[in-house]
Amino acid sequence: MQPGGDMSGMMGGMGGMMGRPRKEFYPALMDMPALSVDQRSRLEAQARQRISSEADRLAGAEMDLRHAIAGDDIAAADQASRRLRDSLNAVQSGVSALRSLHEGKPPPQIAQAWFRSQMNLPPRRDTADGDDSAPGVSWFHVTTMALLVLFSLAMLAVYVARMRRANALVERLTRAAVAPVAAAPLVSAPVTGAPARQAEATFSAPPIGRDEPVRSWKGPLRICAIYQETPNVKTFRLQAPGGGAIPFAFLPGQFLTYAIEIDGQTVRRSYTIVSSAAQTAYVETTIKREDGGLLSDYMHGHLKQGDLIEVAGPSGAFTFTGAEADNVVLIGGGVGITPLMAAIRYLSDIAWTGQIYLVYGAQTTEQFIFRDELEYLQRRMSNLHVAATMVRTAGTSWMGSEGQITAEFLTQAVPDLAGRRVHLCGPPGMMEALRKTLVGLGVPREQIKTEAFGPARGAAPPPVRSVGDVHMPDSGADGRGAAAIGPATAKVRFARSGKVAALPPDKSVLEVAEAAGVSIDYSCRVGVCGVCKTHLLQGNVTMEVQDALTADERTNGLILACQARSVGDLVVEA
Ligand SMILES: Cc1cc2nc3c(=O)[nH]c(=O)nc-3n(C[C@H](O)[C@H](O)[C@H](O)COP(=O)(O)OP(=O)(O)OC[C@H]3O[C@@H](n4cnc5c(N)ncnc54)[C@H](O)[C@@H]3O)c2cc1C
Ligand code: FES
Repeated sequence: MQPGGDMSGMMGGMGGMMGRPRKEFYPALMDMPALSVDQRSRLEAQARQRISSEADRLAGAEMDLRHAIAGDDIAAADQASRRLRDSLNAVQSGVSALRSLHEGKPPPQIAQAWFRSQMNLPPRRDTADGDDSAPGVSWFHVTTMALLVLFSLAMLAVYVARMRRANALVERLTRAAVAPVAAAPLVSAPVTGAPARQAEATFSAPPIGRDEPVRSWKGPLRICAIYQETPNVKTFRLQAPGGGAIPFAFLPGQFLTYAIEIDGQTVRRSYTIVSSAAQTAYVETTIKREDGGLLSDYMHGHLKQGDLIEVAGPSGAFTFTGAEADNVVLIGGGVGITPLMAAIRYLSDIAWTGQIYLVYGAQTTEQFIFRDELEYLQRRMSNLHVAATMVRTAGTSWMGSEGQITAEFLTQAVPDLAGRRVHLCGPPGMMEALRKTLVGLGVPREQIKTEAFGPARGAAPPPVRSVGDVHMPDSGADGRGAAAIGPATAKVRFARSGKVAALPPDKSVLEVAEAAGVSIDYSCRVGVCGVCKTHLLQGNVTMEVQDALTADERTNGLILACQARSVGDLVVEA
């Protein structure tokens, strides 16, 4: 029907609204912008007639209802009550239409009035400015709908976040299947059970303190605090220069390599992260000032709060997270307590339930690092058992054991020692002696995990040592002009830098590289830290110590440049 068209169609729709589809009347009014005077009066007449006839029907239905009730005829009463309701609705729609006509409302509003009365909706309260909002929409509805929409969006966001986390976890698990030990994500802590039973990792937990897996990182960190632990040991707390979380994740027992400029030369040394791997706001390293030690002396004497340190790491596989075994024996001497303390702090943070035996040896009580904290933790953690012995006790109030860590001391401190996993860290001499003692006490070699802090053989070399007259030919890769030094007949070609140098049999690839001006990162120079890992592209090498290499890395041609020596020609990727 066109706007302003035939009224009979509209009224016919109104007249048939009880039995016919309502849309015939309702849409017709909605489409009609205005009524003529004639249309208005005809509509009014129709409405009045409707009210009058429906009022008669109402009276009849009421009478029938009374009779039915009096005669106990429930079916008739039901029918009468339906007629009553229908007639009442019809009367109401007529009245609504009349009222709208009298108020001079446009046809769409008349239709709305009719519709509301038909649907038993409360009459619409017109706004002061005559805003024509949708029927039945109130602030309550709007607010409820808005809250529902917000709730739905929040649920959607939670769902998306969960899916992302699940995907990241799956990715980590997939990567863990091929990652080297140090980079593997943590696995769940096992339930305490029989001593030394190796835990079966059943599912992966998120990497410690971060949402990313453990990855290597390089950059500056700022010293935010320095603590004096003992007369010659300080703890350096480092933070991200810009604040916030430290920019890498790590495992308890891993270390960082510091690179510090001293007298125009970059000196690198490794230091265990001693703070808990659950701590994300900072990392701490606890450093002993070595007599005549280049970097440790510089750290103690020159570095102060606010200074930046170039850091690389984390590195190292001397880690314990609680997933490797359901109990652990930690044996340390002197500053070798740092990786053990890192494990204890982390295990305390995650409320690990396995038994932890710490056996510690120091020269004097004055040099007992973390003594107060260990006493406190031992009171708090029923699963932490600390046994310490001091080499010298004269003039101190130490009531504990005196002397070195011996077989007897170990067996008294740790029940069923032979069946447990042992982590051992300290000066090289002590490590060698204790390794033998442990094997003698029946601990299987593969159950003894070690990390040496000092040089494996004798005194440490100075940071950079000369190999004499190593020739660095300009011609590069072809090796022509490489000078022979002493008995050396072999050459090493550094593929990336294109340099070739003579390779004496008593010099390591690292030493020759340094003399030739080829950069290979290093730290310990004794084969334990793994910082100098390099690909051997051609040739054969021997390595006296290769603790820092996994079996896979060896198979894949990785060598420790600080250990690699050869009597034949080599090609190295450096
Ligand atoms: C994986 C790993 C983790 C470590 N974690 C820690 C830690 O948490 N805390 C810590 O304090 N240390 C740690 N270390 C040891 C640390 O890396 C350094 O080796 C230590 O601080 C000494 O470095 P330095 O530069 O002070 O001494 P260096 O200059 O390297 O000297 C070391 C020792 O050798 C002697 N020496 C040096 N040059 C000669 C020479 N030409 N002839 C004879 N003797 C010489 C020095 O007197 C000194 O006693 C760790 C080492 C490794 C490999
Ligand atoms: S420098 Fe540490 S393993 Fe070579």
